[in-house]
Amino acid sequence: MVILKLPNEIEKARGSNRIVAEVLSKLRDKVKPGVTTRELDKFAEEIAEKRGAKPAFKGYRGYPYSLCTSVNEQVVHGMPSERVLVEGDIIGIDFGVYHNGFFGDATITLPVGKVNEKALRLMQVTEQSLYAGIEQARVGNRLGDISASVQGKVEAAGFSVVRDFVGHGIGKNLHEDPQIPNFGKKGRGVELKTGMILAIEPMVNEGGYRVKVLPDGWTVITEDGSLSAHFEHSVAITDNGPEILSKLN
Ligand code: MF3
Ligand code: CO
Repeated sequence: MVILKLPNEIEKARGSNRIVAEVLSKLRDKVKPGVTTRELDKFAEEIAEKRGAKPAFKGYRGYPYSLCTSVNEQVVHGMPSERVLVEGDIIGIDFGVYHNGFFGDATITLPVGKVNEKALRLMQVTEQSLYAGIEQARVGNRLGDISASVQGKVEAAGFSVVRDFVGHGIGKNLHEDPQIPNFGKKGRGVELKTGMILAIEPMVNEGGYRVKVLPDGWTVITEDGSLSAHFEHSVAITDNGPEILSKLN
């Protein structure tokens, strides 16, 4: 069941996502060679606490950290650790909070120092595919318009979209209906309505779309070991078009 949000609820979700965006924005300056993913996690947690927000992922289905930090061939749900980032890595940082009764959720992928041309293009295309999807988040469109738009952008660039993980509705729960695949057909699926909040999150592989989960039960990696990038925004559908609630400054 898709839950529509009232304007005062969207305002609360705006607040939660503003905290998420602030944290991700600050993390952009922290990500450099020599830093550990655990340090990034601590940093995010501290800011969230200062803002009176609860990290959304910590404790979710037993997940032990505040951030998901997915490096290189890790697609999503990489766990913060003593791993030291090195020049040339790329890192997907996924963060969510619960604040004032509403969840916020967003992801960016960042280069560590200087990265190669292909990694750069993978990140750019993934972010562009997110914006192509967001552009379709309009009243009267259908979910498939978002999915097809993301997929089109990615595949035109020669990359592939992950099938096994999807975006989601978000609100009083971290994950609500509808599920938002990053592949699909225009004109199909549920009709988009004012008051929906959608977490759109393309996961894009340089090689094949197949992924596998490591024995830790969380870390998802590409089956072929190729690089993967991930971007996510929480987006409200309004009468005036899509509003990106988690927009970074
Ligand atoms: N942003 C991701 C999602 O929307 C991360 C949540 S997974 C968690 O599903 F378990 F680590 F919380
Ligand atoms: Co999400």
